[in-house]
Amino acid sequence: MSAAPRLAARPGTARLHLRPTTDEDVPALAAAFASNADILPLAGVSHTTTDVPAVRRYLREAAAPHGGLTLTIVERATHTVIGVATLLVPNSADGVPWIGLLLIAAEHQGKGRGREAVAEIEWLLGSRGWRALRLNVVAANSRAMNFWRGIGYRPYPAGCRAYDGRPSATVMLAKPLSTSRPPGVSREEASTWFG
Ligand SMILES: CC(C)(COP(=O)(O)OP(=O)(O)OC[C@H]1O[C@@H](n2cnc3c(N)ncnc32)[C@H](O)[C@@H]1OP(=O)(O)O)[C@@H](O)C(=O)NCCC(=O)NCCS
Repeated sequence: MSAAPRLAARPGTARLHLRPTTDEDVPALAAAFASNADILPLAGVSHTTTDVPAVRRYLREAAAPHGGLTLTIVERATHTVIGVATLLVPNSADGVPWIGLLLIAAEHQGKGRGREAVAEIEWLLGSRGWRALRLNVVAANSRAMNFWRGIGYRPYPAGCRAYDGRPSATVMLAKPLSTSRPPGVSREEASTWFG
């Protein structure tokens, strides 16, 4: 009798599952938006985007452009919806994938969930041949700036500044992608998400 094959542990991203957002996710996501109410304007979202109809409208608009995709971030163990990521794959302005918004419910922040969700998105895109990921951050959103810088995102173009030489209010960050990160969703599942 042959020994059962040893299954490699999936580090990090094994705690989370990302899947396309459905209408059933919206109430939990509205609660996640509401828990970040004070920071929403700095995340590029109107401060009134905290109830179910407003969040539904926001997520529909984020998914509307060609390449628009919203992914709900779920805890594998409890099936709790803890956040959302909006993507453009790619942004038609530059032909590169962008993250529009990454939002984790306040009570789940600071526990590595944001880092894992981004690792998952990076793998999803890297495994589909995309070589970079970009996003805009409001410079005054210091928590988000520290977060993105802490996971390897850097100003693009390097050291970019506003035309008058002062630091700009929003900073474009970018990171090169590789295919090496282990998946938390199967390639087959992910292949149905993109057009
Ligand atoms: C920004 C955000 C997504 C980060 O998610 P998170 O789950 O809290 O972040 P993590 O716990 O994965 O942190 C990962 C790293 O980010 C950095 N970081 C996170 N919070 C930080 C803080 N308050 N101060 C400094 N660094 C911080 C650290 O480098 C941390 O590394 P560590 O885990 O080794 O300490 C979350 O705070 C959020 O949803 N904010 C509101 C919405 C928003 O502003 N989104 C960004 C605009 S796109």
